[in-house]
Amino acid sequence: MSNQTDRIIIFDTTLRDGEQSPGASLTVEEKLTIARALARLGVDIIEAGFPYASPGDFQAVQKIAETVGTENGPRICGLARASTKDIKAAGEALKPAFKSRIHTFIATSDIHLKHKLKKTRSEVLDIVPEMVAYAKTFTDDIEFSPEDAGRSDPEFMYQVLETAIAAGATTVNIPDTVGYTTPSEFGAIIKGIKDNVPNIDQAIISVHGHDDLGLAVANFLEAVKNGARQLECTINGIGERAGNAALEELVMALHVRRQYFNPFLGRAVDSTEPLTNINTQEIYKTSRLVSNLTGMIVQPNKAIVGANAFAHESGIHQDGVLKNKLTYEIMDAESIGLTNNQIVLGKLSGRNAFRTRLSELGFELSDNDLNNAFLRFKEVADKKKEITDWDLEAIVNDEIQQA
Ligand code: KIV
Ligand code: ZN
Repeated sequence: MSNQTDRIIIFDTTLRDGEQSPGASLTVEEKLTIARALARLGVDIIEAGFPYASPGDFQAVQKIAETVGTENGPRICGLARASTKDIKAAGEALKPAFKSRIHTFIATSDIHLKHKLKKTRSEVLDIVPEMVAYAKTFTDDIEFSPEDAGRSDPEFMYQVLETAIAAGATTVNIPDTVGYTTPSEFGAIIKGIKDNVPNIDQAIISVHGHDDLGLAVANFLEAVKNGARQLECTINGIGERAGNAALEELVMALHVRRQYFNPFLGRAVDSTEPLTNINTQEIYKTSRLVSNLTGMIVQPNKAIVGANAFAHESGIHQDGVLKNKLTYEIMDAESIGLTNNQIVLGKLSGRNAFRTRLSELGFELSDNDLNNAFLRFKEVADKKKEITDWDLEAIVNDEIQQA
């Protein structure tokens, strides 16, 4: 049986690994708001949290499973170490979801085995099938990750993956946990897995990576060329330390350069079929929402969603773009949901224009919050000629904090 797909599966971990960014913790309600936005964005799988880690995370995963994990919604996933307590908590939290997944992991690098787990390779080889089989008693869809795969002995990792698949893992995820590998190395790891794990056709190959050397997205694109079909990523690239691979960068690289990537997915070069299920026009909104709720600011020069990503400063560039946008733009701002609209908000603007602009920035306020924010907007507009998006975000954030 082949488990390969010709679309790339987008597994969003903003609510799990993304929330591991220092200072980015979210309430259950905030997680639910982000999960709804991720569903509108069209992600295939939402890793909603780590249910055993805290009662709050359990509750968030359960709530998301119930309200976002509907028949036509995304699959909802919960993280669990390879231990019965973790797996049981994940299985229980995920019960309300129409489609669920348990993601269980254990480290395979000698550094982690020796200093963190204090286990031998042969002990790990015993734990993996036992825990995958236990997870399988809660749901059919099991993802297994050999943590720190990027620094693991390949031969040992092949054995662990074979065992996990034989026990029922349907996705094997290859994490570059410390963002150590380079693109050609990471591509070779994926190729090695395809060539050396005998039952690999029974599972989807997924990748997960951190951005310690700024290489996570490049590593993933190389992994796609070598057979990876699921990408684990976060909005704005937030996550542990330097963050995770950024969803918006991966999706737009696959979208803008699809003729380059088509043949790696077995398609004709000129196929216009999208490579992912993402509705790219939701990208900007979702980015703003996640930034506002986590407090993680997006740097102005950040690819795709930074404030300067579609701005042209020098005279030569402005002149070129006015003559033909293609001179200095490789994608339309509209393709990520920027409206480029000419409505300038000021003291004469009405509530409708105000609400519309807030919605474009990713804010969906209750009527009461909207009324209060609108009053504050009018006060600020009396003092300033033009209200920028930054002013609007400050107004709304003040309002949310006071509520
Ligand atoms: O970075 C990592 O290795 C992880 C695992 C839990 C997949 O986040
Ligand atoms: Zn991670």
